[in-house]
Amino acid sequence: MKVTVLVGSQWGDEGKGKIVDILSEKYDFVTRFQGGANAGHTVEIGEKKYILHLIPSGILRKEVKCVIGNGVVIDPKALLEEIKLLNENGISVKERLFISHNAHLIMPYHKLLDSINESGKNKIGTTGRGIGPCYIDKFDRKGIRIVDLLNKDVLEEKIRKNLEEKNVLLKKIHKHEGLDVNEIINDYLKFDKEIDQYITDVPSLLNNAITEGKTILLEGAQGALLDVDHGTYPYVTSSSPTTGGACTGTGIPPNKITDVIGIVKAYTTRVGHGPFPTELTDDEGNKLRKIGAEFGATTGRPRRCGWFDAFLVRYSAMINGINSAAVTKLDVLSDFDKIKVCIGYKLDGKMIKTFPSDVDRLGKVEPIYEQVDGWNEDISECKSYKELPQKTKEYLDFIAEKSNIKVAIISVGPKRKQTFFVN
Ligand code: GDP
Ligand code: IMO
Ligand code: MG
Repeated sequence: MKVTVLVGSQWGDEGKGKIVDILSEKYDFVTRFQGGANAGHTVEIGEKKYILHLIPSGILRKEVKCVIGNGVVIDPKALLEEIKLLNENGISVKERLFISHNAHLIMPYHKLLDSINESGKNKIGTTGRGIGPCYIDKFDRKGIRIVDLLNKDVLEEKIRKNLEEKNVLLKKIHKHEGLDVNEIINDYLKFDKEIDQYITDVPSLLNNAITEGKTILLEGAQGALLDVDHGTYPYVTSSSPTTGGACTGTGIPPNKITDVIGIVKAYTTRVGHGPFPTELTDDEGNKLRKIGAEFGATTGRPRRCGWFDAFLVRYSAMINGINSAAVTKLDVLSDFDKIKVCIGYKLDGKMIKTFPSDVDRLGKVEPIYEQVDGWNEDISECKSYKELPQKTKEYLDFIAEKSNIKVAIISVGPKRKQTFFVN
């Protein structure tokens, strides 16, 4: 039995899609458990580049079954576009895609409210995919779920009831035009026709699979520091991208999880607002962005870039229970003569012991760096750990020790073949 959770260890975009694609060769199921189309998971196979937003990255291997768990919020329009794109590339999701009855649906008013919120004073820098407003309705017990698509009358009634309230909010508070209820009902009835075939009792599917000895890879979206509970609140997403979310977001009990893999970028990036202690706003930051092609896979926004933060990854390893790590984008550091690693934070002149839980304190910390020598040679053709330059191995050992992680997988480029296992 193998039920592996794979999580982002920083602020997202660590290269989860690429590593899921590599690992999924050995798994029967790949399952998303939270988030929605705010995710952008890139997989490069040969000359082709796929960016997956809702469908698990395992879909590119035809023997793998893919599941969207109850913790995910689904924009049916985005889902159908993704299915279409895959079909156009000769990848069929038929009898391979399973969607939980209990997953919530993103509605047009969620996307509209997301963009209205972002145009106000308290900007988070969201992806604009309606994620926050949809999770608000879920926890307010007003949400519309995938299961509601199965009963036309229930669906209609729920849309009408929700829209009545949302139109008051749009018109009275936000001074915005209301939305047309019939248009939304018609669109969602159309979606229903296409989505019905995938709706499945996911907890039974996955738990039966575990009983039969099948293997499951749980693909996290976003990253630990974007977790609504453990991240840099309020500059976070509205779900639980940490390991705990894999259980609540699928119906797999905690005692069935066998291991946790953390995806760790060899430096740090962040998209959107919020504190980022090791951010580089100078030429070095621009160099990281340029070499690392750090532009959002979902929104195209330039990602903020900075040095590796071992204090942050140590915190992430603790809350996720990371057993082994995949270090990605190591090749991006090849052009740097000197590389800095943050090993701790000072606040008011004193070293602090734990990761600050509030953004005010995090925004004021002084990152304490140790500088190491770069390796100054191209490593993107390396095929094994042995082939890496000594200085690269020293960098890996250093970040592993300071972050309390064990490095098991190394990625030196976006392609499948640019990946190897340490042992
Ligand atoms: P995810 O959201 O965690 O799946 O990551 P993204 O796909 O948003 O961003 C990672 C980007 O880095 C993608 O463009 C990948 O193709 C690319 N990538 C992944 N691993 C590596 C690597 O080891 N080296 C380089 N240079 N690029 C990588
Ligand atoms: P993947 O899975 C990086 C960020 C947004 C914003 C905050 C809230 O590709 O790693 P949201 O739209 O979720 O309400 O935005 O979270 N964010 C991500 N940053 N990678 C992601 O996903 C992200 N998904 C959301 O930029 O700061
Ligand atoms: Mg991404």
